[in-house]
Amino acid sequence: MATALLMTVAAVLSVALGAEKPNVIFIVADDLGWNDVGYTNPDVISPNIDFLAKSGVILDQYYVQPLCSPSRTAFMTGVYPYRLGLQHLVVMNNQDVCVPLDRKMLPQLLKENGYSTHMMGKWHLGFCKWECTPTYRGFDSFYGFYSGGEDHYSKEVNGFDFRNNTEVCRDGAKNYSTYQYADRMEQIVRGHDPKNPLFMYMAFQNVHMPMQVPEKYTAMYPHIQNENRKYLSAMVTAVDDAIGRLITSLKQKGIYNNTLIIFTSDNGGWTSYGGNNYPLRGGKISIFEGGTRVVGFLHGPMLARKGGKFDGLMHAVDWFPTIAEAAGIQNKEPDQDGMSQWSAINSRGPALRQEVVYNLDYHSLPLQGQAAIRVGDYKLIEGFPGMYEGWYKPDTVYKEPLGNLTLDLNNLPKLNIGEDFHVFKYLFNLKDDPTEHNNLYDKLPDVVKMMEGKLEAAKKRYVAPNFPSADPKSNPQNYGGVWTPGWC
Ligand SMILES: *[C@@H]1O[C@H](CO)[C@@H](O)[C@H](O)[C@H]1NC(C)=O
Ligand SMILES: *[C@@H]1O[C@H](CO)[C@@H](O)[C@H](O)[C@H]1NC(C)=O
Ligand SMILES: *[C@@H]1O[C@H](CO)[C@@H](O)[C@H](O)[C@H]1NC(C)=O
Ligand SMILES: *[C@@H]1O[C@H](CO)[C@@H](O)[C@H](O)[C@H]1NC(C)=O
Repeated sequence: MATALLMTVAAVLSVALGAEKPNVIFIVADDLGWNDVGYTNPDVISPNIDFLAKSGVILDQYYVQPLCSPSRTAFMTGVYPYRLGLQHLVVMNNQDVCVPLDRKMLPQLLKENGYSTHMMGKWHLGFCKWECTPTYRGFDSFYGFYSGGEDHYSKEVNGFDFRNNTEVCRDGAKNYSTYQYADRMEQIVRGHDPKNPLFMYMAFQNVHMPMQVPEKYTAMYPHIQNENRKYLSAMVTAVDDAIGRLITSLKQKGIYNNTLIIFTSDNGGWTSYGGNNYPLRGGKISIFEGGTRVVGFLHGPMLARKGGKFDGLMHAVDWFPTIAEAAGIQNKEPDQDGMSQWSAINSRGPALRQEVVYNLDYHSLPLQGQAAIRVGDYKLIEGFPGMYEGWYKPDTVYKEPLGNLTLDLNNLPKLNIGEDFHVFKYLFNLKDDPTEHNNLYDKLPDVVKMMEGKLEAAKKRYVAPNFPSADPKSNPQNYGGVWTPGWC
């Protein structure tokens, strides 16, 4: 009798506690640039994103990694990719690599604390064995693809890649990916049992190349001449429509008032494919601000602060502990780099973060081989800052990477870290010079010395990139033409 009563009390309590936890929707737009949303660039049509951002909290000094897999690693683990061997380029489909299995991912933590956890879209955190894939790493359901990019309609990338949970899903080739993810989102919200809180990771394929989008969206940009820019803008508007559908379905379900919506890009815009980060310097793949300082915001009726910008430094690794705190969960994960920004964002408290490590990657080339850190207002770059080094305006044709660092991929310069690593050296004061025009490296030797000391400290925790050569066992031909786990 007493036991039964206790159990009832416990059940009531857990439901009540569960009910208090906010639903969390974590939205990632792939390759979205600083200058690619309506609230930073009025040429882009994104009314839903603009509304959420302007009535939420815009993150003004918010950093991610310069490429997809590393940023997603940081979102999911709260750990810098340079500490996990995942800082070099991205996880290739044919590499025996995934996020280390001893790291708990955010959906796992939320699931342990009563959340229903669902993902749709792009994974890109490795899939050589099943244990690496979303439904083995904390997601109750998965609807999307394992690779870094594919055809938005056929879901082909030298092999078919689309799954419903673990099953190959040929229906995935029926429609435009962003439509399909919005359909899936509606289905999950409609079917959601509100006695548990909901976590949804909407990892859109847009606005990543290939440049594909239904014609009704390109028709909204008759004034844009450059083809890639027209498509990119239209792809943003397609995501914005999907987000409009999200808001509507949350309201229809009656859970909008208890839902925290987070929006972020995973790296800067890819200037070769219509992305734009102007006036920031560089873009995707580069360590300049255009590759790493991105659009991001929070929105939710539970935020104490609504409207305005949060100008404390924040990094992708901070989401794990920040979301845990927002959900009232004790985050006991050891050895993370993230800091909870929840109270600083909410209470206009003092900025917590003094430092951001942009990257540490001594896997010389191709394309990277760099160390960069921000401490307060200063930023130090040593090594190769990336192949996009200029300031690119929208609606201009950038078919090839521009700038002085254009590389011949058949004849890559060999960067020997020990000897040539200091080939490129930059010091910027980002407060005075957020667009990185004025290299202070030779003018402020004391600051350089201090910053190099910080880099040295970070290097103590460096793990060399896990970047093996292609494993032929991965070949989709071995699996009926489908990219499939089980070969590592
Ligand atoms: C996905 O799988 C679930 C069961 O595993 C099934 O109920 C559902 O209809 C499937 N959805 C699609 C779109 O195939
Ligand atoms: C694609 O999805 C959209 C949005 O759900 C829908 O309106 C359209 O009919 C679908 N098209 C096809 C070919 O299934
Ligand atoms: C959300 O809260 C606001 C203010 O508290 C209220 O006016 C509105 O009706 C609520 N909406 C829903 C869908 O519960
Ligand atoms: C590129 O760098 C070289 C020196 O390496 C310099 O002479 C040249 O003017 C630079 N070009 C541009 C476009 O900045």
